[in-house]
Amino acid sequence: MSTASPSAEPARPILEVRQVVKSFGGAKALRGVDFTLYAGEVHALLGENGAGKSTLMNILSGVLTADEGELLIDGVAVRFNDPREAQAAGIATIYQELDLVPSLDVTANLFLGHEIVRNGILDNAAMRAGARQRLAVIDVDIDINRRVDHLSIGHRQVVAIVKALSGAPRVVIMDEPTAALTASEVDSLFDIVRGLRAKGVAIIYISHRLEEVPFVADRVTVLRDGLVAGETAPNALQSDLVRLLVGRPLDELYPRRSTKLGRPLLNLEHARFRLWHERSGWQPACGVNLTVHAGEIVGLAGIMGSGRTELLMALFGSGLPGAWEGVVEVDGQATKLQSIAVARLRGLAFVTDDRRGNGLMIRMSVGRNLVMSILRQVTPFFLASPAKEAEVEERAFRQFDIRPHDATIAVGALSGGNQQKVVLAKEVVGEPHLLLLDEPTRGIDVGAKGEIYARLRELADAGLGVLVASSEMPELIGLCDKIVVLREGRTVAEFPGGIDEHSVLAAVTAKEIAHHVG
Ligand SMILES: Nc1ncnc2c1ncn2[C@@H]1O[C@H](COP(=O)(O)OP(=O)(O)OP(=O)(O)O)[C@@H](O)[C@H]1O
Ligand SMILES: [Mg+2]
Repeated sequence: MSTASPSAEPARPILEVRQVVKSFGGAKALRGVDFTLYAGEVHALLGENGAGKSTLMNILSGVLTADEGELLIDGVAVRFNDPREAQAAGIATIYQELDLVPSLDVTANLFLGHEIVRNGILDNAAMRAGARQRLAVIDVDIDINRRVDHLSIGHRQVVAIVKALSGAPRVVIMDEPTAALTASEVDSLFDIVRGLRAKGVAIIYISHRLEEVPFVADRVTVLRDGLVAGETAPNALQSDLVRLLVGRPLDELYPRRSTKLGRPLLNLEHARFRLWHERSGWQPACGVNLTVHAGEIVGLAGIMGSGRTELLMALFGSGLPGAWEGVVEVDGQATKLQSIAVARLRGLAFVTDDRRGNGLMIRMSVGRNLVMSILRQVTPFFLASPAKEAEVEERAFRQFDIRPHDATIAVGALSGGNQQKVVLAKEVVGEPHLLLLDEPTRGIDVGAKGEIYARLRELADAGLGVLVASSEMPELIGLCDKIVVLREGRTVAEFPGGIDEHSVLAAVTAKEIAHHVG
């Protein structure tokens, strides 16, 4: 079955899932799932937001127990009561919402629970050396002494992966491992995955990036509504894959481009903000030239560390205070954007790439999260009429197809993709003039992506300006009217939407200053 497996002998399953059922309250997340995993294969598990992928993974990794059904390892029935038991059975997991301890440094996280002790005291030197050695497998420069909450999301992901691989596992489960990685980091991850496969490790690979499936997977299983919808070859046509995923054909992922631009909503000329370096902290100013008009969707391209996130943060008044210099105009008026309050007052809204960190209040209900931004607006006492709240909630659920359609459940109980929809919706309901987005479709399934692109275009047509940073090049090219390339905190090139990917990639990575186009 396993196509790219190096072994020729008849494969035997390392892991079998039989008729697994799991409910949360009344809702059935898994309704009788069968799944087989062979040693030395990369098995992609695909499905829409809420299909049950993370739930299945949580059962395999001992975080949840199944209501019904069986798990077998090497043909023997097992039952994991906690994650430790799953780890002892050789199953390592990289979670979608990273499970690192934010306040500890990289080394401490890598050795958490497995600290090296000599003569009764922690051997920090040995652990630091070990941390360096483990990180060396992945070609990314990360300071092992830095606290995890001071790392970019992408680097946190890398640390989580390295951590999961430390116990020489037989099965590795990866839940959207590339969601926050840049192209070169994705390449090193794929190298690691192939290396593991060559050693006979079995990998369950969950992703919403369908284009990476043929590069990394040997087999593909699609979940839909808690059931296996089908199995397919990794080189199946994208359109077939999408039909299996979504249950219907999807004609157009990207909306048409804007035909009519309004007044300039944001104008930056030689604008300088501070750039954050993983190793050296805040660095002196950089130069940005760009304009976002009403009705326009402008993309920000650049590698990790190019300053995309810092630029958005600085615009939203949440960067280093007082760091702006040069021309910064919002709606034709010079401004300093010195605080979040000022930025909001000027009609800016920001969707961060870290939904757990600052996007959502995870224990509060979906409805409460959705009305946060309007409460901030309408009253200092955080009160709005129940009717108004209900109207806002209803609009958000419809616009963004948040599932399940229930405002009373805690946001933390939603699937990853649906949490991301709530993050987007809660900013949009506040009716900003200029929407700043950082990786807005991270973890969102292909059907919902199309809907979000369509919503953004509708909002732009109604006069909104959008500035969107994304590491997904097809998304920038397909969605945006204009793409601005950042390198080391400077704008180095500008392209019209629809341009070929190669040109943008060249500008993103080139050493010399690229040509201005369009
Ligand atoms: N702890 C929980 N409490 C209540 N419902 C839950 C809980 N965990 C998951 N669910 C529900 O189970 C269903 C499946 O969720 P799951 O997280 O497995 O989806 P997923 O396929 O991983 O989606 P995504 O791609 O968005 O991450 C969803 O409807 C979700 O709301
Ligand atoms: Mg999930």
